[in-house]
Amino acid sequence: MKTLEWRALFGQGAERIQASTIRELLKLTQRPGIISFAGGLPAPELFPKAEAAEKAAEILKEKGEVALQYGPTEGYLPLRAFVAEWLGVEVEEVLITTGSQQALDLLGKVFLDEGAPVLLEAPSYLGAIQAFRAYGPRFLTVPTGEEGPDLEALAEVLKEGPRFLYLIPSFQNPSGGLMPLWARERLLEMVMEKGLLVVEDDAYRELYFGESRVKSLFELAREAGYPGVIYLSSFSKILAPGLRVAFAVAHPEALLKLTQAKQGVDLHTPVLNQILVLELLKEGLLEHLSRVRRVYRDKAQAMLEALEKEMPKEVAFTRPKGGMFVWMELPQGLSAEALFHKALEEKVAFVPGGPFFALGGGENTLRLSYATMDQAAIAEGVRRLGKALRALLTPA
Ligand SMILES: Cc1ncc(COP(=O)(O)O)c(C=O)c1O
Repeated sequence: MKTLEWRALFGQGAERIQASTIRELLKLTQRPGIISFAGGLPAPELFPKAEAAEKAAEILKEKGEVALQYGPTEGYLPLRAFVAEWLGVEVEEVLITTGSQQALDLLGKVFLDEGAPVLLEAPSYLGAIQAFRAYGPRFLTVPTGEEGPDLEALAEVLKEGPRFLYLIPSFQNPSGGLMPLWARERLLEMVMEKGLLVVEDDAYRELYFGESRVKSLFELAREAGYPGVIYLSSFSKILAPGLRVAFAVAHPEALLKLTQAKQGVDLHTPVLNQILVLELLKEGLLEHLSRVRRVYRDKAQAMLEALEKEMPKEVAFTRPKGGMFVWMELPQGLSAEALFHKALEEKVAFVPGGPFFALGGGENTLRLSYATMDQAAIAEGVRRLGKALRALLTPA
């Protein structure tokens, strides 16, 4: 076969699209016998498989001509209406997206240019870093922790006038942090004073372990009459990520641009999936959500108990109040990637934290997900991790 010079054919944008180091590492974690805390996948036992099978058959039989036809770019109207009512917003403010991942790309298309500053937490969601990077922006970062971004550092960085701030205030991926209400209010004051745009990614909104959710930045901004928060959330973590159904809520002017951008990407999110999500939501959503929360809370507790028991005192880890992640800091100078390889020998895996930092750093951090393993595997995996750690801390 003749050869083609592919690199000469790629556009400039292709240069910015890079292989993710995490994907390469994740391949190693899929070997048999490995207890993996690496992936950010939801618990498969929570997928409503039987209900979905029944509903999908019903939808195809009764609404097949709608479910299998092209649909509106904005999304299937009854699902938009459901989301609007759930969030207390207008239908015209809701755009259904093909996963929140798509919304991140659309935001990049609409708001970013080559060299434009955009502010992220350090660490932040890898998929967002990757989506935004394709548009060549200049990343600004602010350190973030168990209570969200460092607000003093934020005040400094805001002087650079970012196009938007991308924040995950609840159960952050990867840090697991939760911004308390006072910090949300303070952050919004700063943002409103400067007239800046916030993208609030609330993928984990329902996975709280306490009594109730902390109000979102979006809700607080609404109360203050400020239109500059675009809100993203998804059905991936509460129903099933394979359906790829999520939503963005924004001021109609911003929403129109995002919708136009989406037209050029996929025309619309699969209609069958949207109807299926709606039908599943209509059936006992609240009951399902309380089960989801309980399952994650129990798994988190199992992991924390094991960590308390197994981790050497030099290691710090967070105690999540919701979501799917524990964030760990090793003593300075100890590399999480070195631990990763040692841990693989013990047949346990996690994700090193470095790639979550858009501007580098964090080599001594790592993320543990407790979502997919059962409690016995969590305890055993943490025991193995402790063994790998001790081996690194006290070399023979
Ligand atoms: C913070 C955050 N945003 C967005 C996503 C993407 O979600 P979706 O499945 O809706 O594309 C994820 C997935 O892990 C996430 O953690």
